[in-house]
Amino acid sequence: MEEIVNRVFNEDMLKGINKIPNNFLDLVVADPPYCLGKDYGNGSDKLEPNDYLEWSKAWIDAIIPKIKDNGSFYIFLTWQYSPEIFSYMKTKLLMINEIIWDRRVPSMGGSTRKFSSVHDNIGFFVKSKNYYFDIDAVRIPYDKETKKARTRSIFVGKKWLEVGYNPKDLWSVARIHAEDPERENHPTQKPLDIIERIIRVSCPEGGVVLDPFMGSGTTAVACIKLRRNYVGFEINPEYCEVIKKRIKRIKSEPSLFAAIEINSPYKNLVGMYDI
Ligand SMILES: C[S@@+](CC[C@H](N)C(=O)[O-])C[C@H]1O[C@@H](n2cnc3c(N)ncnc32)[C@H](O)[C@@H]1O
Repeated sequence: MEEIVNRVFNEDMLKGINKIPNNFLDLVVADPPYCLGKDYGNGSDKLEPNDYLEWSKAWIDAIIPKIKDNGSFYIFLTWQYSPEIFSYMKTKLLMINEIIWDRRVPSMGGSTRKFSSVHDNIGFFVKSKNYYFDIDAVRIPYDKETKKARTRSIFVGKKWLEVGYNPKDLWSVARIHAEDPERENHPTQKPLDIIERIIRVSCPEGGVVLDPFMGSGTTAVACIKLRRNYVGFEINPEYCEVIKKRIKRIKSEPSLFAAIEINSPYKNLVGMYDI
């Protein structure tokens, strides 16, 4: 079998997906074209609605067998097609959450014939009730004031006060705007904060994450930072160059060298960031 871990393939994911063995993935983070006519240097976001839905079913079906029994599948969509795609996925997997990503778009006019759309819909699906979910890895610390306000004896020693609260299903994280230091040359780059939260909670250290639509490589960067392994596909060779540079840059950050020394069956492959 061709080595696949910690690699991004410049390939149509539907053609490459069978490189991945069945029951292999801890987590899938899929951020496909939304069928909104964006220019990814190919026609992938410009399909007719029915063709888009058929294509979506085909790639979802191809991925499901690759996920471990305790694995998870997150999919980014918008309200236009999430109802149909979520309904389809519910016939194959258990749906755990719909997470609303509030992109914190500033108010600047917009359409006068409808409400401005400022959110994406993230579906969180699993294969079985026995799914991996490490809530402690994503708790949000209480601020000093809240902790102080809870010093009465009934709160003393309460674990939740010390460990923080669990995130809700509404995530307010600013999109990556043109001046953002995180910004790469990709029109729909996702914030690291969002991808990192998903990986922390739904993939154990040393586990394997598939991103079938890598774009600028956000999932690969998050995996390197968090000591997880990745495998991915990106059809546009120019974006593959962006991914390569981004990975090189993150690997050159000295504070991350320690993080890469992980106790994982794939640790010898961690240096193989070829595309
Ligand atoms: C929404 S973007 C992903 C953005 C990514 N999450 C990021 O943070 O940069 C979708 C990507 O899928 C790629 N793509 C479209 N069809 C594809 C296919 N069949 N196989 C692999 N990649 C594809 C596009 O070129 C585009 O870069």
